[in-house]
Amino acid sequence: MSIDQEIERAAAILAKASNAAASCGAGISAESGIPTFRDPGGVWERVDPSEAATSEGLIATLKRDPQKLLGFFTELLDTFERAEPNPAHYALKELEHMGILKTVVTQNIDNLHLEAGNTDVIEVHGNSFRMRCLSCAWDGDYSRKELISEIKQKLSSADSFTFSDIVELMPKCEGCGSVTRPDVVMFGEQVKDIPRSFAAARKCDVMLAIGTSGVVYPAAYLPFQAKDAGARVIVINPNENAFQSVTDVYIPLKAGEAMERIVEEVKKIVLDKK
Ligand code: OAD
Ligand code: ZN
Repeated sequence: MSIDQEIERAAAILAKASNAAASCGAGISAESGIPTFRDPGGVWERVDPSEAATSEGLIATLKRDPQKLLGFFTELLDTFERAEPNPAHYALKELEHMGILKTVVTQNIDNLHLEAGNTDVIEVHGNSFRMRCLSCAWDGDYSRKELISEIKQKLSSADSFTFSDIVELMPKCEGCGSVTRPDVVMFGEQVKDIPRSFAAARKCDVMLAIGTSGVVYPAAYLPFQAKDAGARVIVINPNENAFQSVTDVYIPLKAGEAMERIVEEVKKIVLDKK
């Protein structure tokens, strides 16, 4: 079947849906300029996860050689500051607005689904712009651009880059004044809201799996859970991925182009019916 036909099939399935869910990974934000993890040039080619993605590893690296990750952090701040939601994020918002999509489960920590306007967004790996206190139960959401600009300002006026300087870059807890950290899930830490995401997967009528390789669990279970409970599974990914055995419709395009074309077709079907 041609890609055009697959897009028509995806649109026909979605036009009949009223309880669709999406399970998204780094690929949906690639067109916003944020690199994925496992593609060529991805994050794990540039930093060693054992030094940057576990909290013990990160603290040990920052204490031993704080300069080692400075280049990567600076680049990450610039990338997150420049990023904007792309047509794939907005397409999910439109599907919600049309009464077709209910929930977005995302592994991304970039806040872009919320900024695009989806209202039920489950961030299973957390959010970089929510800070949580290491001493009390306080957490708070910050504006992405304001928080980054504040951190960059502190970075540029710091004359050293030691472990304690890095700790000082983060806002202080608004409850007790103590140290905070971004509320993101590092390797070995507990993934968030899994019961709620699995419930969304098991009750959806269509599951869109967008831009995820499907190798990181438990998030990778979602399309399998959805299929097992009777949903149709639409996979959007330009490359091979782990969902082949449960895929009903496969669209090997970038998320922005695929989602824009699908929503256009859905609109035609819905308008024809009126
Ligand atoms: P990966 O880097 O594993 O996979 C990204 C997927 O996006 C790949 O399958 C690509 O083929 C696909 N892709 C690339 N560009 C795309 C585009 N423009 N449109 C659509 N798809 C595209 O990222 P995730 O599956 O999100 O976890 O990885 C999951 C987790 O691995 C992350 O949340 C992170 C990482 O370790 C933690 O840090 C806890
Ligand atoms: Zn506190």
